[in-house]
Amino acid sequence: MKAKDKITIICPIKRFANEWADSIRKQVPEFEVQIYPDDSDRESVEFVMAFDPQPGAFAHFPNLKVVASMGAGVRAILTEPGLPENVTVTKIVQPMHQRDMADFVLALTLSHLRKLPVFFKQQQEKVWKHHSFQRPEETTAGIMGIGAIGRVIGELFVKNGFKVTGWSRTEKKIAGIQTFYGNDQRNEFLSTAQVLVCILPLTDETTGILNKEVFAHLPKGAYLINVARGGHLVEKDLLESLESGQLSGAALDVFSEEPLPAGHPFWAHEKIFITPHNAGNTHPEAAFKKVLQNYYALKNGGEFVDVVDRKRGY
Ligand code: GLV
Repeated sequence: MKAKDKITIICPIKRFANEWADSIRKQVPEFEVQIYPDDSDRESVEFVMAFDPQPGAFAHFPNLKVVASMGAGVRAILTEPGLPENVTVTKIVQPMHQRDMADFVLALTLSHLRKLPVFFKQQQEKVWKHHSFQRPEETTAGIMGIGAIGRVIGELFVKNGFKVTGWSRTEKKIAGIQTFYGNDQRNEFLSTAQVLVCILPLTDETTGILNKEVFAHLPKGAYLINVARGGHLVEKDLLESLESGQLSGAALDVFSEEPLPAGHPFWAHEKIFITPHNAGNTHPEAAFKKVLQNYYALKNGGEFVDVVDRKRGY
């Protein structure tokens, strides 16, 4: 008898795990879908889906072959010590997710340029006061990490009249975007970025890259948007650069500890806009198709798609 098709989800964020499980059950009702740690028969599991896995979780699955990330970022999966060397890791590469991220970053940027937080505060205080503003045509947005998602962000900014630059580890050529690459060209990239958008993968090289030294190369009063991972940011350097005026403000969607702890100084900082890791959503309805393709590639032999280069880290 053929073994039942089975996917186990490893994700401590209950809302996210349930959303994926419900969607998979709807799309392939014949599959057994379980959520760790309330799962059973772990020897039979070869294919798991994961996001920010619980420490040690992978080690409970002796026959694990594929870990399909439920997100675009995979650092927490790759750095989990229980992940065996020979396991294939895949990630979500999905146009709707990329577009959601781009829309959100554009909204944050326009909100900053048009001073919406200032008007929001004025309304609460019943203040009627005009402010000047900066237009997209007068603004250079620098996309730090001009990969799959960064490119979609950059292209949306170009459509909206911004000057756009991008920086990546390796050379990229994208119409309408001035690109820079490698450490040698990093400071030149930074020197014009009035809005700096971080959408880099988190790797050993990029951990802590949003630091004082990088901020110092930006034009004075630059605005920082981090929609990548909290590990990119050196938090005390951000506070110092806001204090000195080198940065005029920051929008942060990601944090080294999530949820952001109640006593964290970012919550009450008037120059920091906080959102709860909400910039994009990897829509299970749309994203599961390629996950399923990878599931059958494992079962029937075939090529995996959206495979993570485990050495490179993304
Ligand atoms: C979200 O953070 C993702 O990795 O997709």
